[in-house]
Amino acid sequence: MPVLAVENLSVGMTGRSGGLVPVLENLSFTLDKGKTIALVGESGCGKSMTALAIMGLLAEGFVVTGGRILLDGEDLLTARPKRLRSLRGDAMSMVFQEPMTALNPLYTVGDQIAEVLYYHRRLSRKDAAEQAVEFLKAVQIPAAAQRAKAYPHQMSGGMRQRVMIAMALACKPKLLIADEPTTALDVTVQAQIFDLLAKLQDETETAIVLITHDLGAVAELADDIAVLYAGRCIETGPAKELAASPRHPYTSGLLGCVPHLTVGVAKPAQWHDLGEIPGMVPSLGQRGPDCAFLARCANATDVCRSRPQPPLGAIAPGHTVSCWRAQEIAA
Ligand SMILES: Nc1ncnc2c1ncn2[C@@H]1O[C@H](COP(=O)(O)OP(=O)(O)OP(=O)(O)O)[C@@H](O)[C@H]1O
Ligand SMILES: [Mg+2]
Repeated sequence: MPVLAVENLSVGMTGRSGGLVPVLENLSFTLDKGKTIALVGESGCGKSMTALAIMGLLAEGFVVTGGRILLDGEDLLTARPKRLRSLRGDAMSMVFQEPMTALNPLYTVGDQIAEVLYYHRRLSRKDAAEQAVEFLKAVQIPAAAQRAKAYPHQMSGGMRQRVMIAMALACKPKLLIADEPTTALDVTVQAQIFDLLAKLQDETETAIVLITHDLGAVAELADDIAVLYAGRCIETGPAKELAASPRHPYTSGLLGCVPHLTVGVAKPAQWHDLGEIPGMVPSLGQRGPDCAFLARCANATDVCRSRPQPPLGAIAPGHTVSCWRAQEIAA
């Protein structure tokens, strides 16, 4: 059984007229123990929305309108709020882009990690504090016992991100969602954080949903990739296969924008603007049944114009794509 199964997840936003505007449509992917899936796509494609829906943390005005989210077989969408609170930070946790917004400025970092262990693991205050120092060591924070007494503002961005990771992994979650965990950091620190995530994953077999614009990190860390476009999943499959033979023109466009991308190469590649794909993602409310990529697609034909966007179809084992021309654009 996969650790995480997202099945036909749809999320809507309450519009001005009271109706629901689709934000995510029929999103499906699965993730096994110890594996990493990267969610990629341009800004606004729905990556964070997917993460928040899984965590049960959608902002007001956003509602899940369909589908299931199974964590180890348990449907999170029908779970009671109390159950969700006990799962969050324990069986599933999340690392956010900007640690300052997620860390409490009024408590030392050691106390904040200890609090997670006290709350979820019922450790004594003393044991929780000792464990917190061990976790700071595990995320390679030097002089951990001293640093545990520091407040978030006394640490660098990279150190704070390590604290966030320590906090997220304190209860050895089955699932970790990392939403752009390194965007605010400089390139060398980014590489260190990704290395750290990979190392901790090896030790704990945590399944990771990685959201990043850093395709170098995707090539290095992800087993699978799900490409999102305008709130829809348009291609999924093994990372190596997608990188080597993308079948959706949008995926090709994304990869084409990163000239250095070669699977297995450690060099972090920055995600560039989609200069090579003219046009923009259709905004919320402008999306009909047509292929959402139609207006930007150089390959579009009358077939594409006359039919709704096709569902994801298997093109190779584990490789699915939503494009009428996927067979023609053969690998
Ligand atoms: N609080 C909000 N109010 C209104 N619209 C929102 C809000 N949050 C997200 N959206 C919209 O929902 C859609 C999905 O946004 P989401 O944040 O998931 O994108 P993303 O893929 O994470 O992008 P980025 O790479 O910029 O983080 C976008 O169209 C976005 O404009
Ligand atoms: Mg986001």
